Amino acid sequence: MSYIKLDYSKATPFFGNFEMGFLQDVISSIHTNLLKESEDKKGSLGWLHLPGTHKNEEYEKIKIEAAKVRGNSEILLVIGIGGSYLGTRAGIELLNHSFHNYLTQETRLSPQVFFVGTNLSSTYISDLIELLKGKDFSINVVSKSGSSLETAIGFRIFKKILADKYGEEEAKSRIYITTDYQKGTLKLAAIEEGYKTFGIPEDIGGRFSVLTSVGLFPMAVSGICIDKVLDGANTAKMELAQRDINRNPAYQYAAVRNILYNKGKTIEILASFEPKFHYFSEWWKQLFAESEGKEGMGIFPSAAMYSTDLHSIGQYIQEGRRDLFETVIQIEKSEKEITMGTEPKNLDGLNYLSGKTVSFINEKALLGTVDAHMNGGVPNLVIRVPDICPFSFGYLVYFFQFACVISSHILGVNPFNQPGVEAYKNSMYSLLRQPQKLSENSVTTQAITY
Ligand code: PA5
Repeated sequence: MSYIKLDYSKATPFFGNFEMGFLQDVISSIHTNLLKESEDKKGSLGWLHLPGTHKNEEYEKIKIEAAKVRGNSEILLVIGIGGSYLGTRAGIELLNHSFHNYLTQETRLSPQVFFVGTNLSSTYISDLIELLKGKDFSINVVSKSGSSLETAIGFRIFKKILADKYGEEEAKSRIYITTDYQKGTLKLAAIEEGYKTFGIPEDIGGRFSVLTSVGLFPMAVSGICIDKVLDGANTAKMELAQRDINRNPAYQYAAVRNILYNKGKTIEILASFEPKFHYFSEWWKQLFAESEGKEGMGIFPSAAMYSTDLHSIGQYIQEGRRDLFETVIQIEKSEKEITMGTEPKNLDGLNYLSGKTVSFINEKALLGTVDAHMNGGVPNLVIRVPDICPFSFGYLVYFFQFACVISSHILGVNPFNQPGVEAYKNSMYSLLRQPQKLSENSVTTQAITY
């Protein structure tokens, strides 16, 4: 029995059972190859063994420095993009209070966490600068390559603000760099300036890095128990080593999505009934899109938050083009509970729900939606997770990473590169390097120079 369960009974009406059996051997041999390849430590499979081998000096440093930031900062600013951002935000938003950043410091007991370097909006950056005024803060710059433009711009701006506020020396003590252990622009800057650094192992790429210092340091600053996150991932690693497809939910997930893909279900919606999953879905989208979407192939990953989206894209899902399937994350036990009472006048007609919890109603919404969508021609997979906690987060991260790599191999693509990302960068850089005419970029608002 695994910690999470995958129920694909609402997808089986769309394919034959023999198709799963056929993929058993294919997946098992992909698994064997992954284990073999991971032995040479030169590829991109470091994440496969990471949980369980993490209790090293670096891990202790993460905890010590996180405690310092919790003591001296009201805000931690995390600067990064893509795989150097999404998993961290997924963990922080899933595992903290839904309104973490809005609570008072006394209630929160940990710094607010804000993210920058995720876009090139001067309004967003300026608003964040305003928010920082009068607040003690530290910076964590995260970039494996050290060269993402969004991250570099964010760092340049906030480094100056930090130096203006604290002076060069104290500013340096409030800057944490997470980058490649050996190389890259950020690594060089860290050595030159004496910033504190955390390393990203060479054999772990951006979207597989949330369980390294990339995600662990900011999560620890925000008060999340990173030991439990890694315990969850480690349990997934052990459970998902199981070679029998009937007992391995990662094998099943990879198999079902590929069977459906081959039947024209080319869009997958990751749906949740818990708003805290919003950024988890964003992380999942990036994981699958960058790993599978290449060479003219791949399932297009999208996400929905229910019941919100049942009142918007729900219509399309029920009756639009039949090229979709859905993967629903079901949380079995809510963190908090509200019970419906009885109103003497029953003006809203809701007394039939008296004594029922909102989670109970949410669960019925989930079951009803899965049935309705399946009956409307949308295969449904349900991933059952006992509760929302650091252990579950670690487990789910490992589960999806592992399933994604297997799935990519079934499809026949390399999950660890992202050649398409270079296209926008190349055309953007060539535009940025063109000489600027005076009439261009005419500044209509007051601009500040950093
Ligand atoms: O998954 C990936 O490799 C990418 O999404 C990267 O994480 C993203 O492009 C950011 O790269 P870097 O960490 O080098 O700044």
